[in-house]
Amino acid sequence: MTTVNLKVKRYDPETKESRYQEYSIDVDENAALLDAIIAVREYQDPTLAVRCSCRSAICGSCGMRVNGHARLACKTKLAEIAPNGETVTVEPMGNMKPIKDLVTDMTAFWDKVKQIQPWLRAQQPPPDHEHIAKPDAMMDLAGTMNCIMCGCCVSDCASLEVDQNFIGPAALAKAYRFVGDPRETEQARDDRLKELSKYGGVWDCTHCFECVQVCPKDVAPMDRILDLRRTAMEAGYQDNYGAKHSNSFAKSVKNSGWLNEARVAVESFGVDDVSAQLKMLPTGVRALLRGKMPPLLHHKRPGSEHVKRIFQEMEND
Ligand code: FES
Repeated sequence: MTTVNLKVKRYDPETKESRYQEYSIDVDENAALLDAIIAVREYQDPTLAVRCSCRSAICGSCGMRVNGHARLACKTKLAEIAPNGETVTVEPMGNMKPIKDLVTDMTAFWDKVKQIQPWLRAQQPPPDHEHIAKPDAMMDLAGTMNCIMCGCCVSDCASLEVDQNFIGPAALAKAYRFVGDPRETEQARDDRLKELSKYGGVWDCTHCFECVQVCPKDVAPMDRILDLRRTAMEAGYQDNYGAKHSNSFAKSVKNSGWLNEARVAVESFGVDDVSAQLKMLPTGVRALLRGKMPPLLHHKRPGSEHVKRIFQEMEND
């Protein structure tokens, strides 16, 4: 047996107040964090609320923040996170309202999943009585299909923290699962890519990598978001800030060997979009006053021809 020290963030729905409460409890040396929390609830404090079911990293219900990052409590070995009896801080998942203690309201999470229409939109009726998908074509989707909808990626998503309109990593990974499915009709795939290219979609991810790091099933949602961006651009959805930014970025590096920040800012909004350009003025003035205005004269860097060659080789590939 070993003694575990927990510092648990508690939320009282009646007073709407949060506080931290500390517990010490003896558990088996091989215990998971969830075992310790359940033991606290069973033997010390029956008022402590936690959501769990399978205790095997399958149902996805025990997501919570452990020492600042989202994890499945049932998959988190205490021997790994607190080998010398360190206090473990446990909090409810982020980007969701707590209902009580470690139990969060996942309504917004499910609403975003529903938003991407998480079902196959295949030709009806199916040709030859059924839809045939070659195993090779489905292999690419296998990783995404491992998602157990635990919400860990959403909990730690930096973009969602500042803009609740962002569809978020879990729903976008789910969208990738359908965009990449060969049984979807061309029209359905196109409609999805068009929707996902709008505000709140694939271009609102800021590449913080948190979703990749915290996903307990290695779904790597951010990589799937980047795949969706590429697919959407290849399908012609380039009339949006994200695609314009990406194109301008690549063009600048290809031609000069480095980033022309001032030009990228202008081209991202579209050089002919006067109202968008005017909206950027205050930011430009602030940058100027703080000495952070990028140079307006942009010279080629020595060796930029090598960078250009790399681009050309990639384009000819
Ligand atoms: S209890 Fe099911 S995933 Fe942890």
